[in-house]
Amino acid sequence: ARLDVSPKPLSGRRIIVTSGPTHEPIDPVRYIANRSSGKQGHAIAAALAKLGADVRLVSGPVTIADPAGVKTIHVERAQEMRDAVEQLLPADAAVFVAAVADWRSENSAGEKIKKVAGEGPPVLRMVENPDILAGVGHHSQRPGLVVGFAAETQDLLRNAEAKLRKKGADFIVANDVSHESGIGPSGVMGGDRNRVRIVSRAGVEEWPEMSKDEVAARLAALIAERLKTTVV
Ligand code: CTP
Ligand code: CA
Repeated sequence: ARLDVSPKPLSGRRIIVTSGPTHEPIDPVRYIANRSSGKQGHAIAAALAKLGADVRLVSGPVTIADPAGVKTIHVERAQEMRDAVEQLLPADAAVFVAAVADWRSENSAGEKIKKVAGEGPPVLRMVENPDILAGVGHHSQRPGLVVGFAAETQDLLRNAEAKLRKKGADFIVANDVSHESGIGPSGVMGGDRNRVRIVSRAGVEEWPEMSKDEVAARLAALIAERLKTTVV
């Protein structure tokens, strides 16, 4: 007879997580970025791994370490992140925490752009990046559970509900990044704490303010609960 070790709730589940910002090159030495630290996404990857999941983390450039027990793929640009994510399909679930740059410079210069006397500053033409979450939410190999985030400075719930529908997600974790609550060491972006609302077709659940690790643990538990009813 086989020794029966009690399985963890996410054993055998393959889960993709995106985290961090993306860097969009302007030329070989300059890029467009944003204030995402990767803390929340990395914490979610770690929390899912702790519940036994086979986690594939696709991370943009961050200064924090790869989470223990998580296979981490490092990318720079949104298009690289999209390619890495799509190569990881199929999966049981996917969680999109990355602050993907919405736009990139249309033609990133092959050489460093020089100041030229009399010419003035360069004009950057921007083009839209692929929406990685929407691509997976509407993919022929769509994971059974798709979770997105929404960073908003206004109309939090209305915008989160719109993203839920448009991107084909099951849950949107909505985040207020306005003024005081927003940015810097004590804000959502860069800080260690977070207050989120979980938006789904069933309605809105408000979670109290807690650490990003606690948000991650609760979200991992919610994902485990949702996947329990589907067969491995
Ligand atoms: N997202 C993504 N790829 C993009 C943009 C966003 O996968 N190119 C994902 C994010 O990881 C997040 C969700 O979509 O899970 C919402 O990101 P957000 O920036 O809030 O929404 P946008 O659709 O980009 O809209 P906007 O920035 O205008 O609010
Ligand atoms: Ca965006």
